[in-house]
Amino acid sequence: MKIDVLTIFPEFFREVFDFGIIRRAKLAQIVEINIYDLREFTTDKQRTTDDRPFGGGDGMVFKCEPIFNAIERIVGTCERKNYPAGTQIVLLSPQGRVFKQSVAKEFADEANHIVLICGRYEGVDERVNDALVTDEISIGDYVLSGGEPAAIVLADAIVRLLPNALGSETSAENDSFSNGLLDCPYYTRPPEFRGMRVPDVLLNGNHAEIERWRREKALEKTKLNRKDLLEGVKSEK
Ligand code: ADE
Repeated sequence: MKIDVLTIFPEFFREVFDFGIIRRAKLAQIVEINIYDLREFTTDKQRTTDDRPFGGGDGMVFKCEPIFNAIERIVGTCERKNYPAGTQIVLLSPQGRVFKQSVAKEFADEANHIVLICGRYEGVDERVNDALVTDEISIGDYVLSGGEPAAIVLADAIVRLLPNALGSETSAENDSFSNGLLDCPYYTRPPEFRGMRVPDVLLNGNHAEIERWRREKALEKTKLNRKDLLEGVKSEK
């Protein structure tokens, strides 16, 4: 998979993809990640990426032209109907549909080239949305000062779902949300720390019992922190 990030703050991404699972996935050529500076696609001397909104109001709006130029260069066309199969042009904005594990899975399964456009200021000229964008995504109901942290969130959540991105020692199957529940609690050595003991069931090697305990704890945690998720979960003996 190829992930391209379009931003006015390329420095923001300097090392963020050079750790852990993403770094390993890059080295194994499971994913290629490129950072593009939006200013490189401007045509005026001042390298202007934004301007005041028509109709008035505070703040600035990203101009169409540099983004159209960038998509034309990165994808080969800025005609949405001509995008190669598996291309997704994603605008990160608080107005988008909310990102969750099922959306990450959708991208991991179906896309082979994702361009993440990091919005800034008051927004992006809506013609970018109308003509170029295939999906507008928000990472939650709060306003960030730009789409950059959101682009990192998407890239991370998607890359770890790509085939072979997680080592054989780990798996995404038990992750929170993958079965509709939050994940269960985990413990490691020592079995007792400052008087706090690891639950006996985890130490006795009875795998059926451990599985039952984990599901029970996952349910408890979900009930405590995310009651809304329980709606969709079938009870299982
Ligand atoms: N840009 C600003 N806020 C955002 C959010 N919540 N999600 C994605 N991009 C954003």
